[in-house]
Amino acid sequence: MSYTGHYSVLKKECIDTLTEKASTEVKSYYADLTFGGGGHSFEFLYKNPLFNVRSTDQDPDALKNGSNRIQIEGMIERIKLINTNFVHFPEIIRQHSPEVFAAGGFQGILLDLGVSSHHFDEASRGFSFRFDGPLDMRMNHESAEFMTAAEIVNTYDEKDLKRIFEEYGEEKNARKIAMKIVEERKVNAIETTKELENIIFHCYPKEHRYGKTNPSTRVFQALRLEVNRELEVLSNTINQLIPLLKIGGRIAIISFHSLEDRIVKNVFRDASAESDFPIEVLTKKPILPTDEEISNNSRSRSAKLRILERIVVKKEKNKYKV
Ligand SMILES: C[S@@+](CC[C@H](N)C(=O)[O-])C[C@H]1O[C@@H](n2cnc3c(N)ncnc32)[C@H](O)[C@@H]1O
Repeated sequence: MSYTGHYSVLKKECIDTLTEKASTEVKSYYADLTFGGGGHSFEFLYKNPLFNVRSTDQDPDALKNGSNRIQIEGMIERIKLINTNFVHFPEIIRQHSPEVFAAGGFQGILLDLGVSSHHFDEASRGFSFRFDGPLDMRMNHESAEFMTAAEIVNTYDEKDLKRIFEEYGEEKNARKIAMKIVEERKVNAIETTKELENIIFHCYPKEHRYGKTNPSTRVFQALRLEVNRELEVLSNTINQLIPLLKIGGRIAIISFHSLEDRIVKNVFRDASAESDFPIEVLTKKPILPTDEEISNNSRSRSAKLRILERIVVKKEKNKYKV
């Protein structure tokens, strides 16, 4: 499977913030939990020969492409690419990477959430209504751990379909689309992206069928989040990453969806009230891409970057301050 390119969003902002406190004398370790095309991972490696990276991805195409690139660029000694869902990363690192803990922990951990351009450009993965393909949408399409989009569309009851279209897609026609799906699948199972696109298209009022946004955009997004359980995985991971940081180490998370951003914001806020592993949130407001980045890559327009730093002790609030 050829791997199409991926433009790395907010690359400079992420690399700058995660490397600014790194030692100039001893090795630093970075974790890139969403390797994708490797844009961010390799940037760490190019930046400083003392930087080492532990990356994960759950997508077989990204892993294959990444392994080749690591070989070609001669970086095999400095980067390890792990085939896993990042929710398992803390456990894997504890078991297999004593060198990271010997260095005090990670200097930086990056999550650039969601899917990559490759997923949308590859018809056989079923993420896009631009091409006809099997309604799959699993990032790890070689594993039976996750249901495919077709399984969801053909087995969830109407109420649950409506709920995910509303919650994850903010789809105004959710009720009608869910009803129509249930009606259609009684006749024939819905197996392809174009079959689903056609159903959604006809649920839209005629005057809204040819707007700027394709009528299928929201439902496809909702299905993708449900298939990969993206919000659940994110909520279960962030807190587990904090103890992996060295003091002064940072976590940077790029999200592309308001529900993801809300999870990041709330988990960061709650973590800053905890005292076991004190942290400070460095971004009161998220960092957004510049106009220039958005004009170079329209996909970056919804990106939001939030950063936290592990600190020694929490600063006491000055109770005398008025
Ligand atoms: C937005 S892309 C990352 C692009 C990358 N930063 C770059 O510059 O090329 C997200 C990648 O993370 C992977 N991914 C998303 N969620 C994941 C998870 N829970 N576990 C492991 N990999 C995940 C996807 O398969 C995809 O390849």
